Amino acid sequence: MNNPIDQLVDVLPKAELHLHIEGTLEPEMMLALARRNKVELPYASAEEIRKAYEFDCLQDFLDVYYLGMSVLINEQDFHDLTFAYLEKVSAQGVTHVEIFFDPQAHTERGIAFDTVVDGICSGLEAGHREFGITSKLIMCFLRHLPEEQAFEALSCACKHKDRIFAVGLDSSENGHPPSKFSRVFAQARREGFVPVAHAGEEGPAAYVAEALDDLRVERVDHGNRALDDPDLVARLVRQQTPLTMCPLSNLRLKGIPSLEASPVKTALDAGLLVTVNSDDPSYFGGYINDNYKAVRKALGLDENDVVTLARNSFAGSFLSDREKQSKLDEIDECTDRFRQ
Ligand code: HPA
Ligand code: ZN
Repeated sequence: MNNPIDQLVDVLPKAELHLHIEGTLEPEMMLALARRNKVELPYASAEEIRKAYEFDCLQDFLDVYYLGMSVLINEQDFHDLTFAYLEKVSAQGVTHVEIFFDPQAHTERGIAFDTVVDGICSGLEAGHREFGITSKLIMCFLRHLPEEQAFEALSCACKHKDRIFAVGLDSSENGHPPSKFSRVFAQARREGFVPVAHAGEEGPAAYVAEALDDLRVERVDHGNRALDDPDLVARLVRQQTPLTMCPLSNLRLKGIPSLEASPVKTALDAGLLVTVNSDDPSYFGGYINDNYKAVRKALGLDENDVVTLARNSFAGSFLSDREKQSKLDEIDECTDRFRQ
């Protein structure tokens, strides 16, 4: 029998705020697209692909992640990938998503920037029509590449200001501090993009502070290591800067030795605006509700904690205040129904 709080998790309306669309590529779709696009993969079966998903750190994963996305070639591929993700999470109570994409990982392979954006956006539009899921798109700069290349991506993004809402920073964190991208983030902010960044996933608390000070981020992706610095925690609480944590990702990339070591409950209790998300669900063994249920069990979260996480997912989103209020009202209606 399903745990009663997990039953609530299943139906609670929620937003997903930390999701790399390329990280939703399931092995079966990877193989089908490889066939469709005549791309050679070093894997013969879905089982073999899943066997490759043993990671000791972020870089181990990134190597497999960039290889996997080599099957994405045409606009239709990006559409299919995006729609498949929305179809899955529509059955998990997700009503709003703010998703990352990594254009440089595609343009480097000769895929046009517009092909990527057109495909993802048509997938998002179809998902809105079919499932009513609203969305915002976040373009990430790859931090292992030079800042000059990030400027090239930004210049492509400027032609899609109506469709790209925010800019982010992802890929290999250690040795690539936020300050490496100060100038391109300043330019992106001037162009009207909202800044966010991965920080404190493997890198130190100082990288989180740098993301706030140098990049002026409005949300921190992961942010786990911020908890090492009490002054930084106090600042994040005071500012109510959202943190988008990803427990199963942390576990699979050995950022934590077990789910019991996830900082989600500590962050909740400290008054941080923490949210739970899936990051790269195909690679890390679970979509959003699997993440909620995993921390619920490991950290002994109660019903109030779970409802707070769902509320935080909308409070920490880039929806307007009016939209947020209507999403929070939906949570109240859902919990009232559930408690009857
Ligand atoms: N961290 C950094 N870069 C990434 C991740 C992540 O979890 N997923 C995809 N790119
Ligand atoms: Zn991420």
